[in-house]
Amino acid sequence: MTTQEEINLPFNEMIEPKLLRHRVVSPQLYSEIHKRSLDQGPQFWESVARELDWFKPWEKTLDDSNPPFYKWFVGGEVNASYLTVDRHANGWRRNKVALIWEGEPWSDGPKEVKKLTYLDLYREVNRVAYLLKEEYGLGKGDTMGIYLPMIPELPIFMLAAARLGVAFTVVFSGFSAQAVADRMNDAEAKLLVTADGGWRRGKVVPLKDIVDKALESTKTIRNVLVVRRTGQEVRMEKGRDRYLHEVLSKVPQNAYVEPERVKSEDPLYILYTSGTTGKPKGIVHGVGGYMTLLHATMKWAFDIRDEDVFWCTADIGWVTGHSYIVFGPLMEGATEVLYEGALDYPEPDRWVSIVERHNVSVLYTSPTAIRTFMKYGEQWITKHDVSSVRLMHSVGEPINPEAWRWFFKLVGKERIPFGSTWWMTETGGILITITPGSYMVPMKPGTNGPPILGVAANVYNDEGKPVPEETKGYLVIERPWPGMPLTIHRDPERYVKVYWSKFPGTFYVGDYAVKDKDGYFWILGRADEVLKIAGHRIGTYELESALIQHPAVAEAAVVGVPDPVRGEVAEAFVILRGGTSVRPELKEELVKFVRENYGPIAVFREIHFVNKLPKTRSGKIMRRVVRAVATGSEVGDITSLEDEASVEEIRKALQEFK
Ligand code: WT7
Repeated sequence: MTTQEEINLPFNEMIEPKLLRHRVVSPQLYSEIHKRSLDQGPQFWESVARELDWFKPWEKTLDDSNPPFYKWFVGGEVNASYLTVDRHANGWRRNKVALIWEGEPWSDGPKEVKKLTYLDLYREVNRVAYLLKEEYGLGKGDTMGIYLPMIPELPIFMLAAARLGVAFTVVFSGFSAQAVADRMNDAEAKLLVTADGGWRRGKVVPLKDIVDKALESTKTIRNVLVVRRTGQEVRMEKGRDRYLHEVLSKVPQNAYVEPERVKSEDPLYILYTSGTTGKPKGIVHGVGGYMTLLHATMKWAFDIRDEDVFWCTADIGWVTGHSYIVFGPLMEGATEVLYEGALDYPEPDRWVSIVERHNVSVLYTSPTAIRTFMKYGEQWITKHDVSSVRLMHSVGEPINPEAWRWFFKLVGKERIPFGSTWWMTETGGILITITPGSYMVPMKPGTNGPPILGVAANVYNDEGKPVPEETKGYLVIERPWPGMPLTIHRDPERYVKVYWSKFPGTFYVGDYAVKDKDGYFWILGRADEVLKIAGHRIGTYELESALIQHPAVAEAAVVGVPDPVRGEVAEAFVILRGGTSVRPELKEELVKFVRENYGPIAVFREIHFVNKLPKTRSGKIMRRVVRAVATGSEVGDITSLEDEASVEEIRKALQEFK
């Protein structure tokens, strides 16, 4: 991606003002408005937070007495389930549709569409909360796990847990047993909610079987609740496992559970995400600051209104879904789409048909999805009416200008805002976007735009000094913001080390970025050993550990290489155990092994067998060198290598592959 690219398109004039509440301003004017927001300090956020319904107002906006463990809106009491459900169910939005849910339209089954109003949602959340509290004794301070497909029970359980002040951890239903077990153990979850199975591309993902396997190595799970979704036979362990519909049938329809008055800085959820080394980190998000950021960005980035149909195409298992399917849109009382399955199954235009049938007006999707649609061709879009859409954003990875232009033309009809919002699991919500307040700045294909009001982003060099415009460096956030993590669950030292130590006092993001002369940020990709395969964040370390669990593998190095559709895919270099013969089917077997043991989101371009890997004298694999060779870039200084011939070894393996 290039920022030097000449971008002189009059996108400003193309925007249809009647579709938008934002004021379109020049980058210079926005930067002044932004500066004024920063001048107010943390107090800037008070007027946003005041729009939430607090049980008890906060006493201190920002407690910065113990950095980097910042606390927002201290003294305030609030409940995320109350904000998303009660407020609307007890008000004029009671009969408004909250969720339009579509099941996967598998070929020989019914096409299911369910609509839940805010009152329906309120009833279900209360009944589930009642069950969790009365039947399972869960309450404040407890943790529970959720491993569900994209069915209404998923948000319902999250909201029910939030109601009780029970911290939950959602495991993406594409992850395998090991990931479930690791997360349940780290979170010390007592209860796990799952389904018999989930639908994905016409096939059943056997979630309960995976849970059974995971529970062989968990220590704290006492009970499992099983949602009946696919209906296949599953093993139910007596005394531990129960079907949800059976236990729920005993809960009265009008069950009511008082929402717990939780402290603003109490944990709402733990979400595991990959880092450079070690197992995934449990990012802990609190309630008050997090909900404040979501409220701000639902208004700013998405301009959300009551007449909108909002659709975020992510899976709730990732932070995008937590923030912009569950907590953000529901807090705003929006109507939104929830879908099970895949965007392009059974036909490449399933997603366009959802937009058309439900009149989606605000669309939030990903570059990988867009590039997949490009591959299928524009005829799948042009045969549908997408004129309901009035605003779009993408998220998850950098968007290449070609994909941006294609989507802007075909779906945006070159008249509506289309941005690439930057944020990450740790930030809780959107921090960089072309709609960074009640303002919009002119679009540029591929940019992320300026930081939102109240957020100080910058680009630093290795010495921790801001770099000049148009210079590549590290993206940082220079001040605390509402929605920032509380900590890493059970590992506060790691929280300090990973995010706050590279540049003391400043939040280190782990992305490369460039800031242009208009103050727009262009996020270039990860600066560490983290992959973004189809927007999914995967640690190279995790794929390497998955590989070396195979009996044929002695050592493995995994790096990311560019992919035209997925943005990036993995490439592995493997040293086999002595005596292993290189069978022709071994590569395939290893790929299958990793996908089974880690999850199908692991996509490899190729697995190469080598005799040596580039290592330092202390035996650390130099992935930087492996990646440089694999991507054909400058290898740089290799004097610290133990054996320079190892570089040749990688080169040879790649040539054989070509
Ligand atoms: C990483 C965070 C935020 C929800 C989804 C991902 C990359 C995210 C963009 C964007 C360029 C982006 C960054 C970041 N990223 N959005 N609009 N343009 N890169 O959350 O799984 O925590 O991943 O995704 O590299 O560090 P995540």
